[in-house]
Parts: sequence; C-alpha cells; structure tokens
Amino acid sequence: MMISTLGVGLQYNPALAAWFPFREQALDVMEILFDSIMAPLDGPQLMWPDAAETLDSAATQCALVGHSNYGGDFGFDPLETTSAVRRHVPLAKRFRVPWVTNHCFYSDASWANVWSSPLQFSKAEVARVAERARNLQEIYGVCLGHENAAYYRSCPGSNMPEEEFLARVIERSGTYLHLDLHNLFANSINHVASGYSIERFLSTIPLDRIIAIHLAGGRSLDGLYHDLHDTAVPKPVWELLDNVLSRSRPRAVILEYESHLLFEDGKKLDHARSVDLVLADLECARRAWDHAYGAKSRRTTREEAA
Ligand SMILES: [Fe+2]
Repeated sequence: MMISTLGVGLQYNPALAAWFPFREQALDVMEILFDSIMAPLDGPQLMWPDAAETLDSAATQCALVGHSNYGGDFGFDPLETTSAVRRHVPLAKRFRVPWVTNHCFYSDASWANVWSSPLQFSKAEVARVAERARNLQEIYGVCLGHENAAYYRSCPGSNMPEEEFLARVIERSGTYLHLDLHNLFANSINHVASGYSIERFLSTIPLDRIIAIHLAGGRSLDGLYHDLHDTAVPKPVWELLDNVLSRSRPRAVILEYESHLLFEDGKKLDHARSVDLVLADLECARRAWDHAYGAKSRRTTREEAA
C-alpha cells in the first residue's frame, strides 16, 4: 500500500479541547482518538455532534489519521460486533484517514475502561491476533498499525518477548507497527528486573513497518512509572526518537497529552504554562523530524512551498 508522509502532529483528545488552542497550530497531522468521539453502540449516531464539527474544521487545516484504544480489536468477541467495526471503521471512512492505529490490548464492551491489559505473548495468540489484524485491516481498507502497550504485568501464559510477538504478528498479518516510545521507556523502567531491553526490542521489530510514532510523558507514583500523558516528553524519549528516526521511516510523529492541565516536577501547572509545554514539545519534535528528513518532507512545509 502507498502511504503518505505527513510529519509532526498532535492527538485530538477531548481532555485538551477546552484549553489547548488546536486551531491556531500549523500541525501536519491530527490523530483522532476514535474511542473518545464515538457515540454509544446502542444509539443511532456515529459520533458526538461537537466532535464532527471540530474535526471537519481541523480537516481543512491538516491531515487526519485514526487511532483506537478500546475497539475490542484483539479481544474474543466476533469482530463484526466490536466497536472497532461498528464505530471506528465508519469513522475512519467518514474522515478518509490514510491509516488507523490500534492498541495491543484485550478489551470488549464490558472492559471498555480497563487500562491496561496486554496481549498474551504466545504462539497461539500470534496466530489468532494476526488473523484478526489481517481481517480488520481489510475491513478498514487502509493500513492498520499496532501500538506496543505500556503494561505493569505480563499477561499470564506469555512465553515470548513482546518484540518477538509483534514481529511475528506483523509478518503473518501484513499489517504495520505504531511505535509508542514512551511506552517503551515506561516498560524499561517497570520491567528492569526481568531484563527488558529497548535495544533488543528495536533490533527485533521490523523497523520498516513502523507507520507512526507516539511521544508522551508520564510520572512515577507509588513505585511504578505510569504512562499518564500529563508531563513534557522526558529526555530519554527524545533520544529514542532520534535513534528510531535514523533507522526507520515513519510517516508521522504524534504527541499525546491527556489531562486538564499538565504537571512539572510533580506540581500541576497553570493554563499558560501547560500550553507552553505542549508547544515546546511540538517544536522539539519538528526539530528532530527536520534534522532526520528535512523540513520539506513535512506536510505543512510542503504545502507552503507549493
Ligand atoms: Fe500511545
């Protein structure tokens, strides 16, 4: 499949909509979090009406891509009954996104808010998940990339490393990867005792199948590091970004924030400082992208030049 190169952007999360000036940004791409805009499955509507208005307006300024956290994509319900197929697929078609990415979680309708339930990294699940992924990509009709999760415990029954599981799934399904660098960072802290290795992860996954990258921040609480999306992107994650951009060719780098206001050094910031923090991270991501591929490879810069 031919995949457009977009550049650097933000995830559209309703938690930010009230305070972050989305409309004033020259974003290359905005990632729609389908879970947060879809209407309930037992109603007649596809999405919340205010989301349609906001995203239709955003589509005039930047490219839109789709993301699913809790579509039941990899659960055990029949695929056609999941919110992935009943809501996310029509949303992807409605906004004509060039790709969709989905989280490697188990979830079904009753688990919609469980965070986080990693897949079982086993041979049996490679076969089942790959078949489901292939079918779902076909239903979407666009590239589907799977996001590596941050998790606190491995799923019982796991008997292979996460990176090997992802590599085997993608090899069988013909789908793609969505690499979340903050999830990698979080796992490397929380699973240090079990020998988790970022370098081994990166040298095992098929780097040429990375469709997009997520960047985020988080905090340590009660002895665990959490992927809370409520701080600036940490320095080691920026270093990882440079590393991965030099070894692969993702089509977008997307920042994720998910809080009513952000934190710095454990303290909640005010509105102005939270906005500044997001803008500074966006600028830093653009610098990394431009250093690796040149500014003209980003969508907005290409359009300005045209
Ligand atoms: Fe992510």
